Amino acid sequence: MAESIILFGPPGAGKGTQAVIISEITGMPQISTGDMLRNSVKNNTELGKKAKSFMESGLLVPDDIIIELISERLKEDDATNGVLFDGFPRTINQAVILSSIVDISSVICIEVPDKEIVKRIVGRRMDPETGEIYHLTFRPAPNEIKDRLIQRKDDNEVAVINRLNSYHEQTSPLSEWYESKGILTRIDGNQSINNVELEIKKLFKINGD
Ligand code: AP5
Repeated sequence: MAESIILFGPPGAGKGTQAVIISEITGMPQISTGDMLRNSVKNNTELGKKAKSFMESGLLVPDDIIIELISERLKEDDATNGVLFDGFPRTINQAVILSSIVDISSVICIEVPDKEIVKRIVGRRMDPETGEIYHLTFRPAPNEIKDRLIQRKDDNEVAVINRLNSYHEQTSPLSEWYESKGILTRIDGNQSINNVELEIKKLFKINGD
């Protein structure tokens, strides 16, 4: 398999928002474990039933469930020329297993302070028809679709504290792990969506004009 990219960062950093741009630039399909898990929960699959309570309380889903999900996804035809991982890996164990399956060329880490994260997550709304991500203040949806927007079950202040704790305890050590391999680039995510996009385009040597 060709080399893949990891989009890394705390909950609400803007990974899903920016993944769309990176997929467009690279042609790589976005593989979001969060989206895949939410689909499994929605479809009431065995895997979804096991993952549901962890997700709703903001805890990481056990590694064996995640590895099963990713292994199946990587067998699909569109995954043979490299993929964009969004929200995976999230533990050192997941990263070690991933390194035995695919080569990673680059890890893009979007950094945002915790106090900004809560505002972003509590104000996030999703369009269930297109999967588009909006924000009540930072990225308002067009008026004609406002009535159909939904809020994720884990986008509340209690779950977000658990998600941030999980991130700091289990996931953020991965940034040093990838940094020591010389493949990590840090991006300041504490700026407007457009400015983060411009920084990402610069990484891919694309002029943002
Ligand atoms: P997942 O869906 O991956 O959630 P997450 O990592 O918490 O990330 P988010 O989707 O919340 O945020 P994001 O960085 O994509 O931000 P977004 O672009 O939406 O995972 C959910 C759960 O599944 C986990 O808690 C866990 O239980 C489980 N799970 C998933 N993967 C797992 C794994 N590998 N192992 C174990 N468990 C796993 O932006 C957020 C908001 O901010 C939006 O409203 C957006 O419009 C706005 N925004 C974006 N950028 C900016 C900006 N620059 N300025 C202002 N607002 C902005």
